[in-house]
Amino acid sequence: MSDKATLEVNGNKHEFPIVVGTENEVAIDVKTLRGVTGGVITIDAGYKNTGSCESAITFLDGEKGILRYRGYSIEELAEKADFLEVAYLLIFGELPTLGQLDKFHSDIKKHSVVDDDVKKILDAFPKSAHPMGVLSSLTSALTAFNPSSVNVDSEEDMYNSVVRILGKFPVLVAWTMRKKQGLPLYYGDSNLGYVENILKMMFKQPNEEQYIQNPILIDALDKLLILHADHEQNCSTSTVRIVGSSHAGLFASLSAGISALWGPLHGGANQAVLEMLEAIKEDGGDTKKYMAKAKDKTDPFRLMGFGHRVYKNFDPRARIIKKAADEVLGDLGVEDPILDIAKGLEQEALKDDYFVKRKLYPNVDFYSGIIYRAMGIPTDMFTVMFALGRLPGWIAQWREMRLRKEPIGRPRQLYIGETQRAFKTIEKR
Ligand code: ACO
Repeated sequence: MSDKATLEVNGNKHEFPIVVGTENEVAIDVKTLRGVTGGVITIDAGYKNTGSCESAITFLDGEKGILRYRGYSIEELAEKADFLEVAYLLIFGELPTLGQLDKFHSDIKKHSVVDDDVKKILDAFPKSAHPMGVLSSLTSALTAFNPSSVNVDSEEDMYNSVVRILGKFPVLVAWTMRKKQGLPLYYGDSNLGYVENILKMMFKQPNEEQYIQNPILIDALDKLLILHADHEQNCSTSTVRIVGSSHAGLFASLSAGISALWGPLHGGANQAVLEMLEAIKEDGGDTKKYMAKAKDKTDPFRLMGFGHRVYKNFDPRARIIKKAADEVLGDLGVEDPILDIAKGLEQEALKDDYFVKRKLYPNVDFYSGIIYRAMGIPTDMFTVMFALGRLPGWIAQWREMRLRKEPIGRPRQLYIGETQRAFKTIEKR
């Protein structure tokens, strides 16, 4: 293959380098385009075809349905690794040794105390506040209690900020849920594993002397967090990178990422899926009616949990989650009619021309809410659980962006507004 791409603009030919990734993905480097073409830019709303960076963290092939973190397949990681190992892998590039993992966990535990004043901020939110808004605000509030900015040239400083946020974030997640449920806030137990501790912080009831751990729930949550841990340059991750590219701090960048994740077209889809399945059930379970609505271009309804910007094949995470949903519900002895509706919708969509032609398959969010519900997690907390899983990915991407000394993110635009016009003074009474 040629190592140059040629573009003709206004009769002039310009050459641009072709760059090839380690998985043979090909990109045209148009960095110099504007300079050589006298102001011409590329335009690509939604960045459908624009690479924003080079990254060594996550590889995904949407046509083949492949997802790998640092070269390891998602299937293998979900089966064999635990969430903290995956977090370490994503952030630092290699799987940890046992010694590194123990140190990582113990450093995280050391930093899991959240300033008591954060509770006052939490108290000020109305009960009706959506947990994602609360989580984003509390994450941003952490900057007030940890004012020193990260010196990205110091490995030690970088490491400390990573363990600090990995320690405090689950506390914020648990507090967000407990506050909404009117339960006393609680710090958890440093003798427990990372995921076990999260469950205890979320679910321990005041009248319970001891919180009894359920291995099925630990395993299910661990798997869900791993599956959500990174997904290359999606909306929230790009937000974290672009906010961080102005050299804003890690917590501020993460807070912006949480807001980006909240929307129903992104992480908020897990809540939207469950609400959709509930609505279908309430309406008599007629999946065909909702399939027709999803295909009707005059109807704003979309089949939530279906379709993906990059996957034009089965989302490999959806396959794993679907199997896990069956297992978790079976193990817990939960019979949820919503699971049957979900399976029915999937069956119909997979053989429907509209969905087949557009390559719309179930995505990661289609079945995750069913597991969260079986675990006793309220619907409006689903996207918060997604954020908990995505945290190591955001950190890894932020760290990579700063270590590579990427320039500030600043897209161009094509102006389509008024051309210059004279100001008219209004007659003042
Ligand atoms: N239901 C019905 N039709 C759909 C759906 C859907 N869920 N998704 C896409 N389509 C249709 C579009 O109407 C469009 O049809 P057209 O070509 O006739 O105009 C075509 O498929 C392409 O869709 P786009 O919206 O252009 O695709 P895009 O890549 O911009 O959007 C997205 C991807 C946002 C995920 C979209 O598929 C969607 O809205 N899905 C539902 C929400 C969802 O599940 N989001 C979670 C994504 S995974 C994640 O972020 C964690």
